[in-house]
Amino acid sequence: MVNSEVSWQDFVRKKKEQQERLLSTPKNDDANQNNDLSSTTMSAPTTATTPESLYGRRPHILLGVTGSIAAVKGPRLALRLANELKANVKVVLTRTVEQYFWKEGRAVPTYDRENWIDFERAVATSKRPDEDEKEHTTDWKLTSGRISIHYAEEEWNDYKSLSDSVLHIDLRNWADICVVAPLSAHTLGKIANGLCDDLLTCILRAWDFGNTKKPIVLAPAMNTAMWEHPLTNMQLKTVKSLGREEGKDAVVVVQPVAKTLACGEVGVGALAELDDIISTTKQCLTHMIGNVSVI
Ligand SMILES: Cc1cc2nc3c(=O)[nH]c(=O)nc-3n(C[C@H](O)[C@H](O)[C@H](O)COP(=O)(O)O)c2cc1C
Repeated sequence: MVNSEVSWQDFVRKKKEQQERLLSTPKNDDANQNNDLSSTTMSAPTTATTPESLYGRRPHILLGVTGSIAAVKGPRLALRLANELKANVKVVLTRTVEQYFWKEGRAVPTYDRENWIDFERAVATSKRPDEDEKEHTTDWKLTSGRISIHYAEEEWNDYKSLSDSVLHIDLRNWADICVVAPLSAHTLGKIANGLCDDLLTCILRAWDFGNTKKPIVLAPAMNTAMWEHPLTNMQLKTVKSLGREEGKDAVVVVQPVAKTLACGEVGVGALAELDDIISTTKQCLTHMIGNVSVI
């Protein structure tokens, strides 16, 4: 069972108090300058706000990694979220990533050996039995968060009796935010159409847009023709409308960039820079973009 000792309600209360304090302080736009946030709703940026100072514990980030070639950057992204945001990161893989991109001897371990080794080490040390207890000791402010991996079929493999908890609901409740990077065309299509045949899409299909209003960050990555296909725009429009309230977005899209793609073609479709994904995640966690004090 996944636990969250500081509840979302506590967080929202703290956040409201902090926003009231910040209204009387000068604003600092530095944190927003380098992001492509054209698709998002901006609110007043805060000063020295960090996710951990708001939550009073490590932020909880679900990182969905789907079957784009950019999945090779997943381990590095997980490490950076754990290090730079001092977040506990639970990585949720699709079957394609598990079976192809992240398999030993396949793309990831070869492409980015150094980060792969660090990532494996971080996952191994995160499996300590005292994991949840340690989270609430004082050292979390200084050290990186922990990283664990969850697999597409895991909840079915571990579900034995009616009294067992349901993993996609536990993870949904545990998370403060879900970041899907890279987001493949296939998983985008599933989210937009409400399909949920693996752990990640079950979590997103069970996302609570009504009450908790936790944000979702999507970073699509695909071949240019896939990106420019009319369905992509239609599906992104549908997904971005989920949970939108008074012009505030629950779903924030970090746009792909133009470069030479893995297939050799040049065009838009490459995964956004990790810096942009991380800063957007941080801003969503601190409610500087996306849903802002709507509760
Ligand atoms: C080498 C290779 C690279 C791929 N890269 C991408 C990609 O960048 N973006 C994408 O949307 N699909 C890409 N695909 C296709 C997906 O892997 C495929 O649609 C898969 O079903 C995605 O499943 P998932 O979304 O459940 O992970 C690629 C396939 C291969 C074989």
